[in-house]
Amino acid sequence: MAYTTVITETRGRVGIVQLNRPQAMNAFNTAMLTELFDALEAFDKDNHIGAIIVTGNEKAFAAGADIKEMAEASPFQMITEGRVELWDRIRGIKKPVIAAVSGWALGGGCEFVLSCDMVIASESAKFGQPEITIGIIPGAGGTQRLARLLGKQLAMEMVINNRTLTAAEALHFGLANRVVPVDGCLEAAVAFAEEIASRAPLAVRMGKDAVNAAFETSLTEGLKTEKRNFYPLFSTEDQKEGMQAFIEKRKADWKGK
Ligand code: CAA
Repeated sequence: MAYTTVITETRGRVGIVQLNRPQAMNAFNTAMLTELFDALEAFDKDNHIGAIIVTGNEKAFAAGADIKEMAEASPFQMITEGRVELWDRIRGIKKPVIAAVSGWALGGGCEFVLSCDMVIASESAKFGQPEITIGIIPGAGGTQRLARLLGKQLAMEMVINNRTLTAAEALHFGLANRVVPVDGCLEAAVAFAEEIASRAPLAVRMGKDAVNAAFETSLTEGLKTEKRNFYPLFSTEDQKEGMQAFIEKRKADWKGK
């Protein structure tokens, strides 16, 4: 597939999508959003791939939605062209998606990071929702995901007063899993993703689905989802193999079945 606004690469069982509009700080125009999700969905369907990384460049992961593309839009154009709805395609990706973030992750860039499953931040990463400075609010999930993740007070400050978070703060507040040096951020993310890709694929898929349910439902419903995902794993070859390998003190050989 020939993309013009993203670059894709495969390393072992890890698929990498690099956002590639450096001239616009990787601002998401419709073309880049569409290609990003096309690339993610292609990796998601590829049996060889176990985990996916999305990254940007050293200056910017992504500086948000493309302001120049939206500046003259009417509310009806925003609705009918479905630009912010495009972000929802991330929710259909079944494999773990890891954001490797250096530099700015602002607006829709920060919201995309919040939609990923895990985040490797380099020391230069900065996260924020500056929409208030251009007369709007986040429209791709930021108000809800930040409030759930960080609590009301900090989310409020970010959304209505443009508070940005450093990489160290992102780690402290649980927005990032690791902070790594700028040089080698992608390599660190690949090592992290490879470890996940080496695990039992169906269990990874069920685990991702169950954890995500915690953000959608009550505890009672979430616990039901967990059970619904837990029991079927006992019908898989990998469960038999994993438990037998433990008993025989050897490494499991996963089949993804
Ligand atoms: N949309 C369109 N173009 C953008 C952009 C954006 N979000 N962010 C940066 N650019 C462009 C700039 O216009 C500039 O282009 P020109 O060279 O043609 O002038 C180029 O990228 C480089 O940017 P700067 O010169 O501004 O670089 P800087 O290093 O001085 O600043 C920055 C970097 C802090 C990221 C700054 O560019 C910035 O504040 N960007 C806008 C961030 C923002 O407001 N994001 C929210 C967008 S709205 C949104 O995302 C809504 C939603 O919820 C979906």
